[in-house]
Amino acid sequence: MIIRNSLNQIRHFSQPARKLKTAQKMSAWSIHSYGDIEELQLGENRIPVISDPEEILVEVKAASVNPIDSFMLGGYGKTSFQVLRNFQLEFPLILGRDFSGTIINKGHGVNQFNIGDEVYGFVPIHKQGSFAEAVLASQCHILPKPTQLTHEQSAALVYATMTAWSGLFLAGNLLLKQKKGLRVLVLGGSGGVGTAAIQLLKSQGCFVFATCSKDAVALVTSLGPDMVFDRNDPDFIKNVQNESKYHIIFDAANMGIQNIPNSWQYESYITLNSPLLVNNDKYGLLGGLITSAGNLIESNITRMCSGKSVRWGYFVPSNSGFRFIHELICRGKIRPVIQEQFKFKDLPRAIETLRKGHSRGKIVVTHD
Ligand SMILES: NC(=O)c1ccc[n+]([C@@H]2O[C@H](COP(=O)([O-])OP(=O)(O)OC[C@H]3O[C@@H](n4cnc5c(N)ncnc54)[C@H](OP(=O)(O)O)[C@@H]3O)[C@@H](O)[C@H]2O)c1
Repeated sequence: MIIRNSLNQIRHFSQPARKLKTAQKMSAWSIHSYGDIEELQLGENRIPVISDPEEILVEVKAASVNPIDSFMLGGYGKTSFQVLRNFQLEFPLILGRDFSGTIINKGHGVNQFNIGDEVYGFVPIHKQGSFAEAVLASQCHILPKPTQLTHEQSAALVYATMTAWSGLFLAGNLLLKQKKGLRVLVLGGSGGVGTAAIQLLKSQGCFVFATCSKDAVALVTSLGPDMVFDRNDPDFIKNVQNESKYHIIFDAANMGIQNIPNSWQYESYITLNSPLLVNNDKYGLLGGLITSAGNLIESNITRMCSGKSVRWGYFVPSNSGFRFIHELICRGKIRPVIQEQFKFKDLPRAIETLRKGHSRGKIVVTHD
């Protein structure tokens, strides 16, 4: 049940934000233990209190749903995230990694933003999330909301595009490489990260190939890749093979290196679904790290002779990365693709829709 009084208070506070008191409540989706979708409870939580001079408090207008929210609901990554949280109690835990909204309060060290500014941004994985009426964020993780976009469109672009940037520019080393003419195959071109990756790569002059299901071919084609492969085509593997060699295969479909045919020629394969956090959950931090290092070495050694490497990509909360994609978003080089919008009260349905696994862009929850 949405607490109407709290909602009204937050709306009211957007002007005189100094009146916010720690005792006041907001409506938030939180979990009190790990499990399945029924763990999500909509209730009253304390409005987060600014404890760092660099922090801002944002009234959330929209947030997007990401696979990590669904995974974290089941306890994914809890061992590693607890370390990042300095072993503080994680529950009640609010999920949601990105947001777009209005600043309602700020720390005294925040000088680039003012109360009332419309911003979009993200929250690092170990912090309380954005599936709430208000969220705390660091000033280096927010930027002014692009004026040509709605809050829903802006929120849709943050986490997925930042993941595409991190995977390609950091794990894939594009930060240092000549990008023009680079041949990149994006697996899962129709999903949140895939739709962003295609546009990001095209904006850099790369030669982009993308895969998706038959029904998504038109959508993916509209994003401007040089070639789209229908993965339902009986000749799919051969068609992809015929266009190799790729400099990079960017796996935004969780296909896994074990399912990449040997006949596909490439230099680097980047997965966004490394076993690192799962290994940490299973074997503890040290055991997990050792097992993961072994996994990575093994994947690379077995492919070394054919000149192929395997890399693990992750969302990285980089200020410079966010500024880079923000500039492309403002210039219209990366535009949002939204599959469906859900009301805030329908967050469980939004997560269930994402779990069906055939996203066409992003799923967004909105407070409007
Ligand atoms: N490491 C990190 O920091 C990080 C951050 C974000 C995301 N991720 C991971 O990156 C992946 C992409 O994220 P996302 O937000 O883009 O997810 P998404 O929106 O759910 O998109 C996934 C796409 O994969 C395709 N797909 C589903 N099953 C497939 C299969 N069996 N074979 C080939 N393609 C398949 C689907 O397209 P079709 O139906 O058209 O095939 C779907 O559009 C997810 O696995 C997510 O867990 C990791």
